[in-house]
Amino acid sequence: MPLLEVDNLTQLFSGLCAVSELKLCLEERELVGLIGPNGAGKTTVFNIISGFYQATQGEIRFQGRNLAGLKPHQISALGITRTFQNIRLWKEMSVLDNILVAQHYHLGYGLGGLFFRTPRYLKREKDIRIRAFELLEIFKIDQFAEEKPTNLPYGMQRKVEIVRALSSGPKLLLLDEPAAGLQATDVNELITLIRWVFDQFDLSIWMIEHQMKVVMSLCSQISVIDFGSLIASGTPEEIQQNQEVIKAYLGDEQL
Ligand SMILES: Nc1ncnc2c1ncn2[C@@H]1O[C@H](COP(=O)(O)OP(=O)(O)OP(=O)(O)O)[C@@H](O)[C@H]1O
Ligand SMILES: [Mg+2]
Repeated sequence: MPLLEVDNLTQLFSGLCAVSELKLCLEERELVGLIGPNGAGKTTVFNIISGFYQATQGEIRFQGRNLAGLKPHQISALGITRTFQNIRLWKEMSVLDNILVAQHYHLGYGLGGLFFRTPRYLKREKDIRIRAFELLEIFKIDQFAEEKPTNLPYGMQRKVEIVRALSSGPKLLLLDEPAAGLQATDVNELITLIRWVFDQFDLSIWMIEHQMKVVMSLCSQISVIDFGSLIASGTPEEIQQNQEVIKAYLGDEQL
């Protein structure tokens, strides 16, 4: 059974067809890409999968389960987490709290634990903190754990978002333009980090990215959409040589 099946997915916005009869499959332990011109519908696909939009038509199945009608927190609890094209961190909370709050969605204790601080609650809370710190260390942002995210450079905020998405142990991690706004040296570091994450964790990664260096060096398969429709899918080499893709998109992008 595929990890994720996107079937006949269509999203209309008052007459505009942002995603059109899209059909895609993702297997377990895959690192794959989604590319296409601005406004092609890439973020909309992620917004539907993660429960932020309800599709006009079509079906998404995750590990065989239909995701229709589920809220974002329910989908994240099932094992799909994401980052956002426009970073969405809670500005008033510290970096560490941003991560801890996200993890509380996944805890197995009720409000009783929270109020009465049962041993089980305290043990879980300790484990979660240790895990969050481990991830922050790996991403070299542990020294900023108590900082507000807005005090950090953009590149670090992107890392905090990735740590937050990883902290609950997802089976599928959706990255929406993780390299956007990064300096060239930070892009190289990001490529190494994403590769490391993929090697270390038992998950699949699906990333949207305009920086071809990132997609082409990391992804085994790439899907290309234009005006909401799939126009090609294949290996990085196949995609780079596909005439329709070159015409619709790659002609303008730096390879
Ligand atoms: N909530 C919404 N309401 C109305 N239109 C929307 C909404 N979200 C997206 N759109 C429109 O749907 C189309 C696809 O947008 P989307 O953000 O998915 O593109 P994208 O491929 O992610 O582009 P980019 O590379 O610029 O991020 C665009 O025309 C956009 O304006
Ligand atoms: Mg987008």
